[in-house]
Amino acid sequence: MRKPFVAGNWKMNKNNQEAEELARQLKEKIAAVEGADILICPPFTSLSLISKVIKDTGVFLGAQNMHWEESGAFTGEVSAQMLKSAGCGFVLIGHSERRKYFSESNQVVNKKIKAALKASLSPIVCVGETLEEREAGKEKDIVGCQLEEGLASLGEQDLGEITIAYEPVWAIGTGKTATGLQAEQMHAFIREWLEKKYSSSLSNDLRILYGGSVKASNTKELMGQKNIDGTLVGGASLDASGFAEIVKNSL
Ligand code: PGA
Repeated sequence: MRKPFVAGNWKMNKNNQEAEELARQLKEKIAAVEGADILICPPFTSLSLISKVIKDTGVFLGAQNMHWEESGAFTGEVSAQMLKSAGCGFVLIGHSERRKYFSESNQVVNKKIKAALKASLSPIVCVGETLEEREAGKEKDIVGCQLEEGLASLGEQDLGEITIAYEPVWAIGTGKTATGLQAEQMHAFIREWLEKKYSSSLSNDLRILYGGSVKASNTKELMGQKNIDGTLVGGASLDASGFAEIVKNSL
C-alpha cells in the first residue's frame, strides 16, 4: 500500500514573514494528521526559518531546485548539501517551469537527481507534456523520453528514493485540471514504464503524484484513481485552509 503524499510547491511566493505565518497556520491545521506524508517547498530564503517552525511535526521540508555541483564558482546557485543543512529532506527536480524558463534539459535533470541522491536528499522528479504535445498525441513519447533520459543510469536502489510527479504543463496554474481518467492513463503508463525498466516491486512501491491545478474540490476524484498516490500542489498550497483540506481529502 502506497502512503498518500501531498506536497506544496510555494514557487516564488512569500517573503520570510509571510512564509513563517503560512507555516504556522499549516502547522496548526495539519501537524496532527496521520496517514499521509506532507511536504512543503518554500523558496530558498525561508527554508532555515521554516525548518524551525515545523520542527517536531511530521511535516517534511523540501526545496524547489538545486545545482548539481557540490560547491564552487556557480554564482546564484545552491547545492544539495546546503539544502540538507537548511533542514531539507526533499527537492523538486525538473519542474516544468525550470524546463521552460531556465532551459533545463533531461540531461541536467539527470545530473541533479544524482547529486541529490549523493547528498541523501529525496528527489521529486517532475515530468509532463505541453498542450501542443498532447494535441499531437505525443504525451506518452514525451513523458517516456523524460523518464528515459532523466533517470538514465540510475539503479533500482536509487529509484527507491525517488518520487515522480506527473504534471501536464497545460494544467499548471491554468485552472484546467486533467480529468481523473486523463491523469490515471498517464500514471498507469509511468508505472508500466517503471515495471519494464526496473521491476514490478519497484513499480508497485514508487509513488507517483499528480500536479496541475489541484484544489480541495478535485482531490478526491484524483486520489480515487488506482495509480495516483498524491498531489503536487502549487497555487492552492499558499492558503493554509485550502491545503489542509487537500490533505484531508487525500486520506
Ligand atoms: P498549480 O501548480 O497547482 O498552481 O497548477 C502545480 C505545480 O506547478 O507544481
